[in-house]
Amino acid sequence: MNGFLTRVLTPSARFGLICLIGVALTPKQAVSQQKPVNVEDVFKNIQALKGISAADFMGTMGVMTAALGFDCADCHTGAGTDKVDWAFDTPRKRISRRMVTMVAAINKDNFGGRQVVTCWTCHRGRDRPLVTPTVDGIYAAPVIEMDDVFRAAPGQPSADQILDKYMQALGGMQKVSGVTSIVGTGVSIGFGSFGGGGTVQFYAKAPAQRTTIIEFASATARDSNVRSFNGTSGWVKTPLSVLGEYALTGGELDGAKLDAQLTFPGQIKQVLSNLRVGLPVTLNDRDVQVVQGETREGIIATLYFDMETGLLSRVIRYAKSPIGRVPTQIDYSDYREVGGVKMPFRWVFGWLDGKDSIELRDVRINVPIEAAKFGRQTPQK
Ligand code: HEC
Ligand code: HEC
Repeated sequence: MNGFLTRVLTPSARFGLICLIGVALTPKQAVSQQKPVNVEDVFKNIQALKGISAADFMGTMGVMTAALGFDCADCHTGAGTDKVDWAFDTPRKRISRRMVTMVAAINKDNFGGRQVVTCWTCHRGRDRPLVTPTVDGIYAAPVIEMDDVFRAAPGQPSADQILDKYMQALGGMQKVSGVTSIVGTGVSIGFGSFGGGGTVQFYAKAPAQRTTIIEFASATARDSNVRSFNGTSGWVKTPLSVLGEYALTGGELDGAKLDAQLTFPGQIKQVLSNLRVGLPVTLNDRDVQVVQGETREGIIATLYFDMETGLLSRVIRYAKSPIGRVPTQIDYSDYREVGGVKMPFRWVFGWLDGKDSIELRDVRINVPIEAAKFGRQTPQK
């Protein structure tokens, strides 16, 4: 596997699948209620990954899919069609369960239970891990990859200096703190042939409310795509399915909170603690300074600041899962001034199963936003 065709098919297949999940979820259990429900109460055949929320379980599916360079259909026959039976045990599902147990044992027996070996450690995007180093590989330029979690590197500016420079670049603390709400409209760019051409509505309210709605007016079969956090609860709704809306729980919920908080960056030093600065790296041919910290809920976040402009260009946040960290990455660009404060007009929200690209065209600040814009968008039946 790992062939060209699979790669090409990947976005479309995954795109459809996530929606089918939504359909599969709703009738059996009210996943959409606020109270967290364990995955084994929602799905029929959970053996290895019990005791986590359905949303975090979907994160583990994303980790497996990404680590092996797979598509959902590589382990679940018929995924992407209405013939899929997620509960049916395929040979690869059985192997994967054994691997989940094996990985837990490796970490327990050798690393004091720290989650240092994951599916990615061995698989690196392949179905079968490589066995032997190649001679060419030994003499080739090394591929430098950053650790997820790093310690402070010597000789770097302090986190305070980098964050203060960021605040200065945005327009100064006073102006930044003066922004209490943001309303934006724009378009979605999508990736490949998916998710483009939608209209975007963006709402945010300090200190921690944020909603992004992407609507596809031209394609009638498509529903809107919503991510919303209202200060306590969060909701995600995916297109192509009326029922594909679920309440965020666990690491996904904590991550949505962080996204909302970082929309009002004046509070960044209160939101993230244990800040440390790593070695600078290059991002899209630009030198960036890397700062990492943790939220009160334990979400690890890595922030990338452009060395020249001082502006935030990337945030990667990690949620926990039983088989490894689940990354979500948001890239910010095209900063423009609104009322004396710089704001990113473009961002790409990428997670293990998809990507939304957003380009705002019009942004207003400090306008009232009705409470209903945050939280669940579909009225409860
Ligand atoms: C590498 C193999 C693998 C891949 C790829 C994979 N899964 Fe799974 N999936 C599993 C295993 C193993 C289980 C059973 C977990 C357990 O027993 O705890 C499972 C269970 C499920 C279930 C629960 C079924 C039930 O009713 O019990 C759903 C839903 C699911 N997967 C969805 C997905 C989606 C969506 C994707 C693509 C994003 C995906 N899976 C990719 C291995 C995989
Ligand atoms: C310590 C290394 C290691 C780790 C960690 C690991 N695997 Fe594997 N896995 C292997 C090896 C080696 C094979 C190939 C075995 C063979 O060829 O018989 C394999 C094979 C597989 C296969 C069968 C692929 C195929 O179609 O041939 C699946 C599916 C799989 N692993 C899933 C996982 C999942 C999911 C995880 C994480 C929960 C994981 N593995 C973690 C080493 C690992």
